[in-house]
Amino acid sequence: MKELSIIASRVQASTTLAVDALAKQMKADGLDVVGFGTGEPDFDTPDNIKEAAIKAIKAGQTKYTPADGIVPLRKAVAARLKADCGIDYDYTQIVVSSGAKHNVFVALMALLNPGDEVILPAPFWVTYSEAIRIAGGIPVVVPTTEDMDFKMTPVQLESAITAKTKAIIINNPSNPTGMLYSGAELKALTAVCVKHDLYIISDEIYYGLVYDQKEFVSIASLGEAVKERTILIHGVSKSYAMTGWRIGYSASNAKLAKIMANFLSHSTSAPSTISQYAAIEALSGPQEGINAMRDVFEQRRNYIVKRMNTIEGVSCIKPDGAFYIMMNIEKLLGKTLGGRVINNGDDFALAFLEKGLVAVVPCSGFGAPNFVRWTYAASMENIKEGLDRLEKFLKS
Ligand SMILES: Cc1ncc(COP(=O)(O)O)c(C=O)c1O
Repeated sequence: MKELSIIASRVQASTTLAVDALAKQMKADGLDVVGFGTGEPDFDTPDNIKEAAIKAIKAGQTKYTPADGIVPLRKAVAARLKADCGIDYDYTQIVVSSGAKHNVFVALMALLNPGDEVILPAPFWVTYSEAIRIAGGIPVVVPTTEDMDFKMTPVQLESAITAKTKAIIINNPSNPTGMLYSGAELKALTAVCVKHDLYIISDEIYYGLVYDQKEFVSIASLGEAVKERTILIHGVSKSYAMTGWRIGYSASNAKLAKIMANFLSHSTSAPSTISQYAAIEALSGPQEGINAMRDVFEQRRNYIVKRMNTIEGVSCIKPDGAFYIMMNIEKLLGKTLGGRVINNGDDFALAFLEKGLVAVVPCSGFGAPNFVRWTYAASMENIKEGLDRLEKFLKS
């Protein structure tokens, strides 16, 4: 038979979902596995949002909508961006799609020509590198370390730029590091982007989950020259506990928005009509639920960071936002744990799952091979149990 698509064949499976699948299989086999794999809030979608969806179904809102979403939702997105981030967008600049992951993909499809380079600070969310490749681009990874709080510097950015560089992807606060770029840091990075005429994909999906009363600054609020070249990625999945509803959105200049809408019209058409009505309620209804969830996440983060740093052999730095911890396992390299020699985070995650019965995500796919990621979108009871098991496992 003829060769399959070269581009599609190069795409790697998501490591996050792979660990999750193995953990689920072990659970189905009757093993008592505690999961810290997939990044989804353990809270239920608030009732007012569910009611809005039920109301939409009963009102017969069950047909196709425009590919880039219904106007009331696009207006609700624009109003929320104004209220939360102080940025002005007309609804015609908003594109709703089937999840923020989809918006990232569509943004790359709209921007890239074959061979275009996209700068990606590592550790990065695993989807970015694969989505760049699917869109015909080349990811150019800029490594960062714990000492730098996992943040790319303007000097690093500038030295990664070539004649082929088209865009950068910034994820703030970040999955997997949880780190937050300050307004000043963003200003310095975006000045380089403007100087070299680069587009900026700014994935800000975790902006509602920032701790220690730190200030979140959206890149698009840093002046017209930056806003014009930025595609903001936001969505309801994380802040409103709506991962299964599949609604994300982007904000960009109108020309890009139109291209992305055209692309959507020939791929998924519109996202679920019912979910769009639910998202209007999420964005326009009471916002107190977000603050309550954020406070719970902050308490969990404090607990996990403090306790992890008392455990011999592992360590972590304190993230500013999102709901992830990067656990450094460098001190364990070369040791044998659970019958397996630990050469990297992949070995550790496998041994910890098989023998410690705890699912964490190896960060090799995120560009950080000596780390594993825990999510604290898990109950306090499970967090305590997971750390108890970690202590026991490290003594094994
Ligand atoms: C940085 C980042 N962007 C986007 C997404 C995907 O969001 P959605 O569920 O809306 O597709 C995730 C999910 O893990 C994420 O971590």
